[in-house]
Amino acid sequence: MKLDTELAGIKLKNPTILASGILGNTGEILKRVATEGGAGAVTTKSIGEDARTGHGNATIVDMGKIMLNAMGLPNPGATAFVDEIKIAKEAKVPVIASIFGSSVEGYAAVAKKVLAAKPDMIEINMSCPHAKGHGASFGSDEETAGQVVKAVKKVSGKTPVFAKLTPNVVSISAIAKAVENAGADGITAINTLGPGVVIDVETASPVLSNVAGGLSGEAIKPIAVRCVYEIYKTVKIPIIGTGGVYTGLDAAEMLMAGASAVGIGTAVKDREIDVFSKICKELSDFMERKNYKSVKDLVGLAHRRIQK
Ligand code: DHB
Repeated sequence: MKLDTELAGIKLKNPTILASGILGNTGEILKRVATEGGAGAVTTKSIGEDARTGHGNATIVDMGKIMLNAMGLPNPGATAFVDEIKIAKEAKVPVIASIFGSSVEGYAAVAKKVLAAKPDMIEINMSCPHAKGHGASFGSDEETAGQVVKAVKKVSGKTPVFAKLTPNVVSISAIAKAVENAGADGITAINTLGPGVVIDVETASPVLSNVAGGLSGEAIKPIAVRCVYEIYKTVKIPIIGTGGVYTGLDAAEMLMAGASAVGIGTAVKDREIDVFSKICKELSDFMERKNYKSVKDLVGLAHRRIQK
């Protein structure tokens, strides 16, 4: 079955998207995720104004299908990353540039720089749960979230701008409404949950060098589905549903909650680089079994079954 679909005017050969932060550090690896992995689109690791080395080890706690991480937003800086995006674009699937800043103007400055590589979309990371001064502090209140979107939209021209939201707020739908009002073309939901802490009892010390990190993987899927479900009820702009998607049935669930496409991150670690092709096959088998004709038929379907 054909799984082609569309997201904010961008054509996708299938609805699976490499989520930011996983394998997105270079143009060559992004290209591989598209060509060997089968992803419908790929997202870069978040890019900032200046080069950052990130935190020392340990940066990841692997707990099977659950993961805690605090990389410290390592990246070579926006100017250096332009060439990586150009290389990624050789794979001929949409390339999404994830950006972060340390001020409203900083976000716009990074957007301006990465736009030189003509990414297909900009995703604003305003939701890293543990990076002090760079992340969720911008996406946790309606006013600041709106200001960041407005500043990026001012420089982005025709390139669609998505805001990646944190689940760690009282009302994600209020933030979603604020970014829509500010002109966002779409929303990615959700970033990692938390932050969380894991302590090694043998050494009586936190495992992560940063102590706290963002939680991802299968445990956060019901939270992600709830967030997407609430956001879909609140806004008209499209949603990339991200959080704990491992299988084609998980992808179907995310689409039914209201996502137009599905981000995949932690599952890449457990199901290899071709997790995208595997999920597409599983989704396609499910759609055939249930007689669904296209990805768009699934988007928001769970809302139609609820009595208001
Ligand atoms: C990092 C950034 C994130 O947005 C996230 O969800 C987890 C980790 C980081 O680079 O530390």
